[in-house]
Amino acid sequence: MQGIGIIGAQWGDEGKGRVVDLLTEQAQVVVRYQGGNNAGHTCVIGNQKIVLHLVPSGILRPGRLCLITNGVVVNPQVLVEEIARLKSAGFLENEDRIRLSDRAHLIMPYHQRIDVLREERRGAQKIGTTGRGIGPAYEDKARRAGLRVGDLLEPEEFKKKLAANLEENNAYIEKILGGKGFTLAEILEPFREYGEKLRGLVADTSRLLDAEVKKGSRILFEGAQGSLLDLDHGTYPYVTSSTTTSGSIFSGTGLGFGRLPLLMVGVTKAYTTRVGSGPFPTELSDPVGDRLVEAGGEFGSTTGRRRRTGWLDILALNYAIRLSGLGGLALTKIDVLSGLDPVRLAVAYRYRGERLTEFPADLKILSQCEPEYESLPGWQENLGSVRRLSDLPRAVRNYLARVEELTGLPVLLMSLGAERGQTIVIRDPFSL
Ligand code: IMP
Repeated sequence: MQGIGIIGAQWGDEGKGRVVDLLTEQAQVVVRYQGGNNAGHTCVIGNQKIVLHLVPSGILRPGRLCLITNGVVVNPQVLVEEIARLKSAGFLENEDRIRLSDRAHLIMPYHQRIDVLREERRGAQKIGTTGRGIGPAYEDKARRAGLRVGDLLEPEEFKKKLAANLEENNAYIEKILGGKGFTLAEILEPFREYGEKLRGLVADTSRLLDAEVKKGSRILFEGAQGSLLDLDHGTYPYVTSSTTTSGSIFSGTGLGFGRLPLLMVGVTKAYTTRVGSGPFPTELSDPVGDRLVEAGGEFGSTTGRRRRTGWLDILALNYAIRLSGLGGLALTKIDVLSGLDPVRLAVAYRYRGERLTEFPADLKILSQCEPEYESLPGWQENLGSVRRLSDLPRAVRNYLARVEELTGLPVLLMSLGAERGQTIVIRDPFSL
């Protein structure tokens, strides 16, 4: 395969950054195509822990071209700071390796304020957003009022558009949300600076990508968030504001469908986590759930929030497989299940006496579903140092085989610890 799409198959935080970091070894180009700095991809390299919010994880390997394309919403302050951090940590020898779409929309300070104030106002009904202004930025994009990266390069135009935007957004913040608006000057000055700092990175990334496709480069598409947070197909309204399923690889980059052979790999933890509100049928509010939080270090890399935890949900996984046309799985954090016996897989839901085997679209139904579990023997061994499939305890191999059977997909990769080397590549997706 020339291209691999890395898709979160759950509610985000599946370990996509890890998988991208691993596969980047064989790729020349890595692309972020949706979402914004609501994402947090954690990679541990030696004794360094790197969290990336906007720059594709491919940046951690020398020489890879990293594209932030039109579907991403970009907070320029976060990007400027992230680039500076990467430089000082020795991961970015020069900025030529990062290219930023002129069409990507900007997250403005008022977007972030609206996001936070709105959540406060919602009270118990809150979505539990990351508070990064993602939703309001996509709203401005959809109502065709957004400011784009390209606008940053035209200070006079930028000023005019910003003034118009402020008028409406300030009125909303002050009159509806009861907050404090922004003055033109307090935004203009820092944004002029961001424009200068980012100017050299701005490009038509759709053309760059097409050129790489034609050259035969291997390309990784790094999804953010997870399939169940998809704006259309996720557990609406407890979702993010972008398309997190594979379709947005095309709309979010300007790459035409069929331009290159592309395999979609779904990343799933060996259990499930969720941050923010919304139904979660396999959630465990018991000591096993606490144990998953502790053993798995389940605290958000963007907001530090404790994640909700539960058993692996095969219905949700099969739904993600269907939505994105996934062709293989990467199973992460299987080491976290060590010491639990039995381990469980949700294979059906009970809803008002009925047995459901498909993930229901209706949130009211989903919130009343009771999972039906299949129990498998657990294992006690620490898996951190295992590097070959054949060295895994039999119970782990049984678990893998059962997941493959229930999903109909091969597990191509697995991770057994937070460090770069703690992975087993069962089948290399690029070789398929
Ligand atoms: P927003 O994307 O900040 O608007 O948040 C909407 C929902 O998506 C909330 O439930 C967030 O917790 C969730 N979310 C957004 N980004 C991520 C992510 O990268 N990982 C996990 N959950 C996320």
